[in-house]
Amino acid sequence: MSQILLSKVNEIFVESYALYLKTQHHHWNMRGAQFQALHDLCGNLYQELSEGIDEVAEHIRASGAHVTANFETFHLNSKLPINNSSANIYEMVKDLINCNEIIISLLNESINLSMQEGNNLTADILTDRLRWHAKTAWLLKMNIE
Ligand SMILES: [Fe+2]
Repeated sequence: MSQILLSKVNEIFVESYALYLKTQHHHWNMRGAQFQALHDLCGNLYQELSEGIDEVAEHIRASGAHVTANFETFHLNSKLPINNSSANIYEMVKDLINCNEIIISLLNESINLSMQEGNNLTADILTDRLRWHAKTAWLLKMNIE
């Protein structure tokens, strides 16, 4: 894997972890209309996301690189908005949609780069992640439209 693709995959790892924490944050802090359905949805999403993060991290390791996983690195490198515990349930769902879409665009760029490099395995793993984030964005959108 080229250094540029590796840095993209690392970026996906960091943002996926930031989204994992954000999805937990919203699961715990949301309140109001549709609470039960959205609390349950976010609970399922963060558990599914943890498996996706594991796939990406193990792919980084299998490519010969180390996985840097600590709060300092996440804080320095994540570009997702900071969690706001006073946001209302609608704003929290919008925030999750926005962050899933940020990761979708990172994934699309990285899949294109993987294919340019003839790296089919990376493209395949990232396409699995893309499918999950696209479905998640749709599930979330259906709750606020
Ligand atoms: Fe829970």
